[in-house]
Amino acid sequence: MTEAEVFNKIVEDRRAIRKFDVEKVMPEEVVARSLYRATLSPSSSNMQLYEFYRIRKKEDLATLTKYCMGQSTAKTAHEMVVAVVRLDKYKERAKHNHAVLSKLWEGKDEKKFKRVNNYYGKLMPMFYFTDPFGIAGFIKKIIVSFIGLKRPVVRQVSKNDMRVGGHKSLALAVQTFMLSVQSEGYGTCPMEGMDSKRIKRWLKLPSKAEINMVISVGPPKMPDAVYNERLRVPYDEVVKMK
Ligand SMILES: Cc1cc2nc3c(=O)[nH]c(=O)nc-3n(C[C@H](O)[C@H](O)[C@H](O)COP(=O)(O)O)c2cc1C
Repeated sequence: MTEAEVFNKIVEDRRAIRKFDVEKVMPEEVVARSLYRATLSPSSSNMQLYEFYRIRKKEDLATLTKYCMGQSTAKTAHEMVVAVVRLDKYKERAKHNHAVLSKLWEGKDEKKFKRVNNYYGKLMPMFYFTDPFGIAGFIKKIIVSFIGLKRPVVRQVSKNDMRVGGHKSLALAVQTFMLSVQSEGYGTCPMEGMDSKRIKRWLKLPSKAEINMVISVGPPKMPDAVYNERLRVPYDEVVKMK
């Protein structure tokens, strides 16, 4: 099989698994390896403003199932992963990237060293800065609107834009995670149908953290694992040629 054929099989075979086989065993490393691969996904400005929480203990799985509205995919999951957006970690992440990259370029490439200092030392902390009332975002929006009169400019600078950005990057990592689990021979189901407030409180997360998805993992219980044959709208409805 070519790499493309292998990849195609993984993508074609991945389904939202609504029932896992509770009789079978899934090695712990499947999730560990897949979460590592998830962290290799692209993220905006390489800031990785997210965290994954692994839920493995029986009593914790039962609690999380309750918060996932008792869905059968949660009830039968061998493990669940809570994907959390952590925009509030922007200073830490920028500091980390700044430290690693400035050490890499200091004394070797002055231009890159300066660029790193500017990007992670100044620009990122300013870009991600928000206040409770969204005033900073509003001011940034006005500034970019003016700049944008003359030239192309990044306009996604409001508090809500930051939130969308955080969820975008994390969703890409979640997809890598799910495809990786599939490649290991197990199944997943992403869940939005959950009580994010209760999950946040349960995980003792700060108010600024946002739950992106909960992902159930395990060996699919065939044939009840999927609801129906794969269903999609016609290809031309979603792929357009300009
Ligand atoms: C953001 C998101 C949220 C979802 N939430 C749920 C959910 O709460 N419960 C569920 O059973 N499936 C959920 N799904 C799975 C979708 O229903 C499923 O991916 C879709 O029906 C297509 O089926 P397939 O993944 O098997 O191709 C969710 C999928 C995504 C991407």
